[in-house]
Amino acid sequence: MNIARVEYKLIVVSEDVGVPAYDFDFDLHFACDHPYQIEGEELCVLRVGPLSDYATEFDDKLAMGLRLVNSPAEHVLASELEAWYPVLEGLTPRTKVFDALPTASEVESDFRWPVFMKGSRQTSKHNPDLSIIRSRDHFEAASRLYRSDSILHWQKPVIREFIPLLSVPGQVPGKVQPSVEFRSFWWHGTCVGWGRYWYQVPAYECADAAAGLEVARIAATRLAVPFLVVDFAKTAEGHWIVIECNDAQESGYVGIAAQPLWQNVIDLVEN
Ligand SMILES: Nc1ncnc2c1ncn2[C@@H]1O[C@H](COP(=O)(O)OP(=O)(O)O)[C@@H](O)[C@H]1O
Ligand SMILES: [Mg+2]
Repeated sequence: MNIARVEYKLIVVSEDVGVPAYDFDFDLHFACDHPYQIEGEELCVLRVGPLSDYATEFDDKLAMGLRLVNSPAEHVLASELEAWYPVLEGLTPRTKVFDALPTASEVESDFRWPVFMKGSRQTSKHNPDLSIIRSRDHFEAASRLYRSDSILHWQKPVIREFIPLLSVPGQVPGKVQPSVEFRSFWWHGTCVGWGRYWYQVPAYECADAAAGLEVARIAATRLAVPFLVVDFAKTAEGHWIVIECNDAQESGYVGIAAQPLWQNVIDLVEN
C-alpha cells in the first residue's frame, strides 16, 4: 500500500491491482511526499481496487486522520443501482431492482424480451449470455447461472429495458458488443476527464459526444457525489443515455489518460 501526498495537496492511498486500465503510479507522474503521520485530518482518495466493505474502510482511514472523499452514504449512492436509479430516472434505461431473482412471468409483466440483466453493482464481466436475455427460456438458463456466478449471486438482481446502442467496429471476446460509450470522471461536479469506454477496440469518436457529456453532467449534478464516474452511451436511435455510475475510486480509467485527469483533480483541491 502506497500513501502518497500528491503535489503536497491530496493524499492518495493506492495499491496495484494488476489491471493496467486501473493502476497508476502517482510517484512517477507527480511530485509526492509520503507522510508517516497525519496532522489533524486530510482529504484522501483510495485507489485500491474494488471496495467490498466501504463503511469499514472509511472508519479505518478516518482513524488514521484520512477522510475519504466520498462518505459511506455517497459511496452507496454512486455504486448501487438501487440507490442511484431513482435519482437518474429518465436519463437511463427503465429498471426494476428485485430482492431475489424474479420469475420469467414477473419479468414479462414489466418488460418485453430482450431485457438487460445485471446485479445491482455490475454484470459478470460484461458476459452477454448473462446480461442480454432474449427469451423466457434464455432467462431460465441465465437465472440458474446467476445463482452460481461468483460475481452475481450476492447482488440484488436488476432487470433493465434493453436499449440497442450504436455499435462500433471490433469485438472483445466474451463481452457484449462494444458501442459508442464514454466514461466521465467528476470531481465535485466538474468533469476532470472523459474518454472512450471501450479501449480494447479501434478508437472511435462521435461528433456530438458533447451532448452526451451534458447528459452525464446532469446526472453528476443530481447525484452530487464528490468523486463520481458516469458512463454514457449513444443509442441506435441517436439519443444519449446514462448506462451507469460508480464511485470513481473503484473505476478504471479505460480510454482516459490518467495523468491529466489527476492534474485536473489536484488543480481543484484547495490548499
Ligand atoms: N439497458 C441496456 N441496454 C443495452 N445495452 C446495455 C444496457 N445496459 C448496459 N448495456 C451494455 O452492457 C455493458 C455493460 O453494462 P454495465 O451496466 O455497464 O455493466 P457493468 O457494471 O458490469 O460495467 C455496457 O457497457 C453497455 O454496452
Ligand atoms: Mg459498465
